[in-house]
Amino acid sequence: MEPSAPNPPGLTDVQTILKQAMADCAQAVEDTIGRLLPSTDLAEARVFDAMRYGCLNGGKRLRPFLVLQSADLFGVNPDCAVRVAAAVEMVHSYSLIHDDLPAMDDSDLRRGKPTCHKAFDEATAILAGDGLLTLAFELLADHATHEDPNIRCQLVAALAKAAGGHGMVGGQMLDLIAEREAFDLGTTTRLQRMKTGEMIAFSCEAGGILGKAPPPQRAALRAYAHDLGLAFQIVDDLLDVEGTEAETGKSVGRDAEAGKATFVSILGRDRARAQADMLAGQAVAHLDIFEGRAHLLKAVAEFVVARRA
Ligand code: IPE
Ligand code: IPE
Ligand code: MG
Ligand code: MG
Ligand code: MG
Repeated sequence: MEPSAPNPPGLTDVQTILKQAMADCAQAVEDTIGRLLPSTDLAEARVFDAMRYGCLNGGKRLRPFLVLQSADLFGVNPDCAVRVAAAVEMVHSYSLIHDDLPAMDDSDLRRGKPTCHKAFDEATAILAGDGLLTLAFELLADHATHEDPNIRCQLVAALAKAAGGHGMVGGQMLDLIAEREAFDLGTTTRLQRMKTGEMIAFSCEAGGILGKAPPPQRAALRAYAHDLGLAFQIVDDLLDVEGTEAETGKSVGRDAEAGKATFVSILGRDRARAQADMLAGQAVAHLDIFEGRAHLLKAVAEFVVARRA
C-alpha cells in the first residue's frame, strides 16, 4: 500500500497561520478598546454601553490586522500600532452602526447580534457612532500613540481624510444615490473605493506613517490596499447575494431589495467573482518589494476573496 502523502505545504498552512494571527490581533484590539471604553455608572452610561456594544465582541478586525501587519514591516512598537488599530476599528464600527440605521440600510442583524439601534434605540445608536468617531481621534492625538507630534498629526489628518466626505462618508452618500440612479461601472468603482477602499488604504498606510517608511514602500502598500479594498467590497456585494445570515452574521439581500447598483448587479456574479480574484492577485504582486516579509499581507488577499463572512 502506498504511504499516505504528507499534507501539502503552502496555501493551507499560510491560511492556518493567518487565522491565528488574525485571532491574536482581534484579542489585542478588543483588550485595548475595552480598556479605553470601560463600563461606567455615570448618568450617561447608556451611550458608553452602546459604544461598547457596537465595537466589542465581533467582527473580523481586518482593518486592525492591516495596521499591525503594515507597522510590523517597519519595526514599529506594537503598543503604538495597536492604538492606531483600535482607532481604525472605532471609526469602522461607527460607520457600521450608522449604516444599519433605518435611514440608511435599515438592517436588523450585525456581527451575529441585533444592530445597535435595535438593541438600544435610534438616537442612542447615532450618539454611539458619534462617540466612537470622536474617541478614535482622541486616541490618535494622545502622546502614547507616538512620541513624535508630527507623526500623530499625520495619522489624524490621514484618518480624517479616509473617513470623511472624500472617503467613506462620500462613498456612503454615493451608495444611497445608487438606489435610485443607474450607476455605470466607473461610478460604481469610485463609490466602492471611497466607501470601503479609503479606510482599508488608511489601515495599510498607517504602518508606513508610524514607521516613517520611505516613499517606495508607502506607494507599494497604497497600491496593495487599492486593489485589496475593491476586491473586499466586491466580495461583500457577492455575499449579500450568495451568503446567509448564519454565515455572515448580518442581514443579507439588502442591496437587491433596495435596487442598489453594485458590482454584482452590473457585472453578474461570475464576472464580479473573476474581477475580485484578479484584483487580489494584483494586490499580492505589489508586495514583492518587501521580499517575503509581507507573507501575511499576501495571505490576507487570499482570505478576502475566499471568505464567507
Ligand atoms: C463590512 O465590513 C462593511 C464594509 C465596509 C463592506 P466588514 O466585513 O469588515 O465587517 P466586520 O468588521 O467584519 O463586521
Ligand atoms: C457599508 O457598506 C460600508 C460602510 C462604510 C459602513 P455595506 O452597507 O455594503 O456594508 P454591510 O453589507 O451592511 O456590512
Ligand atoms: Mg450600506
Ligand atoms: Mg449595509
Ligand atoms: Mg454590503
